[in-house]
Amino acid sequence: MTPQLDPRSPIGVFDSGIGGLTVVRALMERLPFESILYFGDTARVPYGVKSVETIAHYTTQITEFLLERRVKLLIIACNTMAAVAADVVRSLSPTPVLDVIEAGAAAAVAASRSRRIGVIGTPTTINSNAYGRAIHALAPDARLTSQACALFVPLVEEGWLDHPVTRLTAQEYLRPVLAERIDTLVLGCTHYPLLKPLLQEVAGAQVTLVDSAEAMAERTAGLLSELDLHNPTREPPEYRYFVTDVPLRFQTIGERFLGRTLHNVNVVKLP
Ligand code: DGL
Repeated sequence: MTPQLDPRSPIGVFDSGIGGLTVVRALMERLPFESILYFGDTARVPYGVKSVETIAHYTTQITEFLLERRVKLLIIACNTMAAVAADVVRSLSPTPVLDVIEAGAAAAVAASRSRRIGVIGTPTTINSNAYGRAIHALAPDARLTSQACALFVPLVEEGWLDHPVTRLTAQEYLRPVLAERIDTLVLGCTHYPLLKPLLQEVAGAQVTLVDSAEAMAERTAGLLSELDLHNPTREPPEYRYFVTDVPLRFQTIGERFLGRTLHNVNVVKLP
């Protein structure tokens, strides 16, 4: 049964760690009056190399945590969770659920003229073929080339956003994808928006980069209008962050992702 949703309630956003803050950042820019509860499983990140069973189990715990806090909307910011556990979230949630893969796939189909689309993501996301299914559901004639880029997450967390090692890695990963003459490349991982300038240089100006964080913010705005759930109050919104650990350099990395200072961080232990 759909519960009565309060437009003043926060939006719940979750991710395997702090990468999902790229989605929070896009939401803050697009929807400046919406409060946000963010959950990042910093103690157990990365998910991108874990099994489907493990990810589904962790995702269940996080979904329950946010639902208990009465969010009006749940956003799966993590591409890896969206790829293999979106059904789990939808089966548990009486409130609407949006996931980055749907948003990124729709934005890619809208952007591509040649229907030759590239997708990059973590190994689990790419192996799941979730982007392939979502894109083909919208454009059955699309020709997809995908590539797992396992090294990008640690490189971004190291802050090597414009480093020769990252450039070389990107050239290596993108070579087979670019050989397929794609006109659109989906950045299918929370961390990749931070590599946008470098990836654009490597891919060339003729390739449109689809940032799933921005696509998600746009989709969220659309759904809030459709359901009449925009926060009517014009007061400064509240942002709260829940994490399962505060790793070394958490503040620096988090602020880089968020593009602003990070306050109100609470550590929680999941059962
Ligand atoms: N958040 C993950 C994603 O978007 C990247 C980090 C991880 O592997 O957990 O796929």
